[in-house]
This record gives sequence, structure tokens and C-alpha cells, in this order.
Amino acid sequence: MKILVTGGSGYIGSHTCIELIKAGYQVVVVDNLCNSSIESLKRIENLYSCKIPFHKQDVRNQEAMRSIFDQYNFDGVIHFAGLKAVGDSVSMPIEYYSSNVGGAIALMEVMKEQNCRALVFSSSATVYGDPHKVPIKEDFPLSVANPYGRSKLVIEDFLRDVFISENSWSIGLLRYFNPVGAHNSGIIGEDPRNTPNNLMPYISQVAIGNLEKLRVFGGDYNTPDGTGVRDYIHVVDLAKGHVKALQVLKNKSQLMTVNLGSGQGYSVLDVIKAFEEASGIKIPYEVVSRRAGDVSTCYADPSYALEILGWSAEYKLNQMCEDSWRWQSMNPNGY
Ligand code: NAD
Ligand code: UD1
Repeated sequence: MKILVTGGSGYIGSHTCIELIKAGYQVVVVDNLCNSSIESLKRIENLYSCKIPFHKQDVRNQEAMRSIFDQYNFDGVIHFAGLKAVGDSVSMPIEYYSSNVGGAIALMEVMKEQNCRALVFSSSATVYGDPHKVPIKEDFPLSVANPYGRSKLVIEDFLRDVFISENSWSIGLLRYFNPVGAHNSGIIGEDPRNTPNNLMPYISQVAIGNLEKLRVFGGDYNTPDGTGVRDYIHVVDLAKGHVKALQVLKNKSQLMTVNLGSGQGYSVLDVIKAFEEASGIKIPYEVVSRRAGDVSTCYADPSYALEILGWSAEYKLNQMCEDSWRWQSMNPNGY
């Protein structure tokens, strides 16, 4: 089976390439490298003695995408390519809608022409907004608070409409909770271009000495220790979820919407403590005011993923921290 992985040199894409290769898939990557390095794929090729055909291309370039589809005759696509920084999406909505929504539409047009009907799409728990209760189930109401989240919701709606119009499509909308960690070889991991926005890469950079201290956003939430609670999921577990989704989509035309989370909520202070234990390094921090747009508590009910995909998260928080730290300490300046 030949799978096109868009955004495959990025953080989640590169880890998914490994799991696909291990499961026997042939993988081809298209990425415009706007937020990643080809080095991730080179390292995978070295570690697994394999070749990953790579095309430096924007998914919106339909002419180029058509010729890539002609060349390989794909059985399915995993669509990671897109922009993901919430703050940037507020200041650059045109770029975000163009890359995310425009990219998905352009890709689907080419897939339709080429009669390639299996798609796994990277959605996000951000589409649940501020949930009325936890754990979050897939049928909870959807609401979004920023252009990034809205772009994900628009794409979900678009894909639902496509499936309604022609149910020969097989589409998986995977809603990720908070992906963290890295491959346990330490050769690939998350490599933010600027100062990280997300918790785990920020802590890692404090630990390595690139940043002075962590600012904990809010100590007055209605949570056991007052700090925000999230569902952290190891990126390798997440990657395995994509392989399972492809296997299920191959068997039956359908549109499935699935939470990929661990089902466990951890506070910011829990993560700091686990990271300190994993790295042996003290993380200096200061509790500051809440970050605009943050919710108090967000974690998944992952039972549908188990039911439909036979998938559940295996890695625990300590392993997520150990693997994040291994990647950071082996690659203090990223790729
Ligand atoms: P990433 O930035 O590491 O990977 C995205 C990749 O897409 C990058 O390699 C980038 O160069 C590429 N890309 C962007 N726009 C492109 C375009 N128009 N054409 C071709 N390539 C393009 O991000 P990631 O963390 O690996 O996220 C992958 C997907 O998962 C994204 O769609 C993101 O929105 C979604 N997601 C991520 C998280 C998270 O916390 N990391 C959570 C929920 C959903
Ligand atoms: C953020 C995005 C979300 C996106 C997700 C994955 C916002 C408001 N939400 O989710 O849309 O899908 O990333 O990319 O940006 N924290 C600190 N100090 C920091 C960083 C984070 O205390 O320096 C706290 C946050 O307040 C939160 C937790 O750590 O309680 C996790 O934050 P983060 O890793 O940014 O993820 P989310 O906010 O859940």
C-alpha cells in the first residue's frame, strides 16, 4: 500500500512515517518545509535503512500534486500539512485559511480526479472550545475561538459535506489532544522554529538552558492545583493511531471522527514534576496570569478510539517526559 503523507517531515508526520514503514506501507512525503527540515526524513532513512521519496512542494500547487499522484498511484493520504500556531493565526488569518482550508480543498480536488478516496485528516481537540464537561466525547458541541481552530472546523465541515455528497469516500477526522514526546531513539522530535508556545517544548528549552524560566499561565483555575489540565499524548501513540485509522478506512467507506487522547488529565505542575524526575533538572517557574483563550480542563474520552480502531494510548507521562528530554538533550539546537 502506497501512502502520501503531506507535512510528513514535520513533528507528527515524521513519527507517523516511522510507524507506517514499520507496518509495511510505502511512504511518499510532500512538504513545503515552511516549518520543518528534510533532516527528519534523512535520519529516519538512516535508522531504518529505507528510502522515503520526498517532494518539496506546497499542497496547494495542484499541477505539481497531480504529477506526484500520477507517479505513485496512492492508496490513501494522511494530510498533516498546515499551519498550527494559534497566535500567528490571529495575526495572519489569510495565510492560515489559505494553507489549511485552501490546502485541504486543493488536495481533495486532486484526490477526486485521481480516484484516491481514503483520507486521514489532522484535526484537533481545539474544535471542542471550552467543553461543558470532561471527559470529552466526539459528539460534544463544537466551538472555536481563533482562526487556527476555525480553519480546522471549516475543514471538518467541508469533509463531512464531501462524504454526504459521495459516500464512496473513506475519511478519518482524528482529533488530537496534546501531542508531546519523541521517538525513543532521540533522533527525531519537535523542533519549533521560534520560542515555543506549547508547554513541553518550552519546559525542554528551560531544562537545556535556552530559556530562563517557565511562566505557568494561571494558578487560579478550578483544578486540583489551580493550573490548567490537559490530555498529553505521546507522539508515537498518536502515530500508531494513524496506522490503525488507515487499516479501518481501507475496509469500509465511511466518515469517522475519533478522539486521539490518553483519557488522563495532567496539570501544568504535574508536567513540571514529571519532567524534573525524568531529566534530573530543576525547572524554575513562576505562576503568572492566565493566557488568553486557554481553557481550564480538557481531556478526552478515548473509548470510541478503542472501539473503532482498537487503539489506546500506551505511554505514560513519565515516558513522554523522558523521550522529550532525550530528543532535546541530544539535539540542543534542534535539527
Ligand atoms: P508541523 O508544523 O511540525 O508539521 C506540519 C508540516 O506541514 C510542516 O512540515 C510544514 O512544513 C508543512 N506544511 C505547512 N503548510 C504546508 C503546505 N501548504 N504545503 C505543504 N506542506 C506544508 O506540525 P505538527 O505538530 O506535526 O502538526 C501536524 C498537523 O497536526 C497539523 O495540521 C496541525 O494543525 C495538527 N495538529 C497538531 C497538534 C500539535 O499540538 N502539534 C495538535 C492538533 C492538531
Ligand atoms: C494549544 C492551543 C491549541 C492547539 C494546541 C496544540 C492555545 C490557546 N491553544 O493548546 O489550539 O491545538 O496548543 O498545538 O494556544 N502553559 C503554560 N506555560 C507555557 C505554555 C503552556 O503554563 O509557557 C500551559 C497552558 O496554559 C495549558 C498547558 O500548559 O494549560 C498546555 O498548553 P499548550 O501546550 O500550549 O497546549 P494547549 O493550550 O492545550
